[in-house]
Formats: sequence, C-alpha cells, structure tokens
Amino acid sequence: MKRRIKLGVLVSGSGSNLQAIIDNIEKGLLDGEIKVIISNNADAYALERAKKHDIPCVIIKHSDFKSREDFDLKMIDVLNSLCVDLVVMAGFMRVLTPLFLNAFPMKIMNIHPAILPAFPGIHAQKRAADYGVRFSGCTVHFADEGVDSGPIIIQAIVPAYDDDTEDILAARILKEEHRIYPQAIQFYAEGRIEVVGRKVRIRGSERIPETPLHNPPLTAF
Ligand code: GAR
Repeated sequence: MKRRIKLGVLVSGSGSNLQAIIDNIEKGLLDGEIKVIISNNADAYALERAKKHDIPCVIIKHSDFKSREDFDLKMIDVLNSLCVDLVVMAGFMRVLTPLFLNAFPMKIMNIHPAILPAFPGIHAQKRAADYGVRFSGCTVHFADEGVDSGPIIIQAIVPAYDDDTEDILAARILKEEHRIYPQAIQFYAEGRIEVVGRKVRIRGSERIPETPLHNPPLTAF
C-alpha cells in the first residue's frame, strides 16, 4: 500500500487551494492525508471547508502571542504532535520565523500568485496587471527566510491581456494554482523532489518542449 504523507495546512483566508488539495486527496490522485489545518484567522472561510470534510482545525491567533517566535512555537507544537511530514502554506499571510523554518527544513511549501522572482509579497496580481505584463502565473516553492523566495518546485504561466482587471487576472492564475499545488505535493509524496542549493530537480519528470510563447502573437517573424 502506498504511504500517504501527513500534511499540516496553514491558512488565513478563503482556502480555495486547500479545497483543491482536499478534492484531489478524495479523488485518490494525491497520496496525502491532512492531519490538521491551522488558521491564524478565526473567520477564515477555509475553516468552513475543513468542517465540511471533517478535518481537524486549530485556530492560533497571532495577536494572542507576545512575539512571532511564540506564535510559531505554538504552531510547531501542534504540527509535531501530529508527526506532520510536510507543511503546506495555502494562502497563509504570515511570515515565518527562522525558528519555524528550522523546525521543518525543506518541508514547508508555499504558493504564490506570480512568476517568481517577479512580484513577491502582497497584491501580486494587481501589481502584475498594473505593470502591464504579457504573461503571469503562479509558483510553488519551498519556504525560506525571505518573502516568496525559496527554491522553485513548479510554475504555471498564463497570458495577461491589456484589458485585464486584477480580478480577471487573479481568477485566471488561481485556476492554475489549483492544479500545480496538488501536483507539487504529489511529487513530494512520491519522494521525487531533490533540492540542491536553489535548484529543485523532479526525478523522472518529462522535459517540456522548447516552445517559446509570444503575446501578442508574432505576425511574420
Ligand atoms: C492565493 O492566490 C495564493 O497564491 C495567495 O493567496 C491566495 C489564497 O487563496 N498567496 C500569497 O499571495 C502568498 N504570498 P486561497 O485562500 O483561496 O487559497
């Protein structure tokens, strides 16, 4: 029987990425089991989603703690008590301290709605749309001490158009987030991820064709 990795999912908001993970586990496509969902926000809609699927939730409000370290220590306790293999940040809007990062070295994934290293931090989709990029997308990466800066596991590209609003672009990106996050976790579950410095190698993964994309399309060249 395949081993199912034990996941601890950190959320702050809507939890649509959490939902994609739950759905893929339930479909049998993702060999994982969510041991706990931790939210720093008691009103997060992600908690409603968790309830519907009978997944244990713990609310840990950052405002109840004197320091970031104390908050992170509480999360570490919960995750370690459940022997979590991988921590999955799914719209978790807190920066982790070195204490937390050292407790789970290369065992924390994050998703970000941009082609990193472009547009790290908050409001990535709005900043990309305002900047007038022709392509955007999303990135799953391991967390490190920077903001959205750790080794990149998988990226998806979507076109951006000059009449895109922030919401339209964000929705286009989110659809791909819901595909690449379960995939990145499944690579991890299969033991296929190797990290050397900044570079991540996915053992046995196909090489994509060398096909450039142009937006707008080239007319003659
Ligand atoms: C997602 O777009 C995710 O990429 C982003 O927050 C949203 C959460 O949505 N995360 C970040 O910007 C982290 N830097 P969700 O709660 O519906 O999954």
